[in-house]
Amino acid sequence: MSTETEAPTIKTEIPTDGQTAASDELPSKGVASPPVFTARDLTVYYGDFRAVGDVNLDIGEREITAFIGPSGCGKSTILRCFNRMNDLIDIARIEGSLLYHDIDLYDPEVDPVAVRRRIGMVFQKPNPFPKSIYDNVAYGPRIAGVKGSMDDLVEESLIGAGLWAEVKDRLGSSALGLSGGQQQRLCIARAIAVSPDVLLMDEPCSALDPIATGTIEELMKEMKNEYTIVIVTHNMQQAARVSDRTAFFTAEADEATGQRRGKLVEYDETSLIFSNPNDDRTEAYITGRFG
Ligand SMILES: Nc1ncnc2c1ncn2[C@@H]1O[C@H](COP(=O)(O)OP(=O)(O)OP(=O)(O)O)[C@@H](O)[C@H]1O
Ligand SMILES: [Mg+2]
Repeated sequence: MSTETEAPTIKTEIPTDGQTAASDELPSKGVASPPVFTARDLTVYYGDFRAVGDVNLDIGEREITAFIGPSGCGKSTILRCFNRMNDLIDIARIEGSLLYHDIDLYDPEVDPVAVRRRIGMVFQKPNPFPKSIYDNVAYGPRIAGVKGSMDDLVEESLIGAGLWAEVKDRLGSSALGLSGGQQQRLCIARAIAVSPDVLLMDEPCSALDPIATGTIEELMKEMKNEYTIVIVTHNMQQAARVSDRTAFFTAEADEATGQRRGKLVEYDETSLIFSNPNDDRTEAYITGRFG
């Protein structure tokens, strides 16, 4: 991958309206200033259903942030806001604001394709293309019209994803012949081949065995030297092992409608969330009494 540091500009002309991350009083919980993402009152609806609401958090640069919480509380929904994947769901819409550095990600002028190049995503189920290992990694850079040696870029990306040694002699073989853990690392290589700034990972290890999971966790810890990582996980040991900060979400029944709506309960340093949470609901969840 390229080591060149590129300014996180998504489009050359982004209207500025004076709105900045520093302009409000909500706690940034000590993230490195300025944060990479700043969510303020971020709420997502699917049609009339308010799936998750009033999310206020800052994501620190080159940190690993974990989203935890019971099924249906909106972790994936919020994660998908960060690279505008929810745009692909017709009935989804957001309220509130989400800044990426100081750019309003949802400004109509912002190109969602450019957003996804800067902010990559790795999914729960490894989803390599039915192509060779090489072509999977080269796919994004080719579309982006990247100049320079594709061989070097493929090699660097596979090294970055901790897969090179295992595949260097079979780059022309089908990616579908790799094991699940190798496929997931290939998906990570594919994501980093376009030199993103951020990697979003939605339960990236849930389909993997403990050894492959350990490999990916080690990889994440190395990758945070270069990338900002946000991970959704149901594995609390994993959140505790790899993340710097943890956001606990839950879903509660709305008094008027009875619908279960997601909310962010608590967000803090991972060590505090797991040792001394502020909220009883967080404590109940992490001690296994609920969820
Ligand atoms: N495409 C969609 N259309 C309608 N409702 C949706 C859609 N995606 C998610 N939802 C609803 O939004 C809420 C939050 O879902 P989401 O997938 O974000 O939860 P989650 O915390 O990631 O859950 P899990 O841990 O099971 O992955 C749920 O009530 C879910 O049913
Ligand atoms: Mg999910």
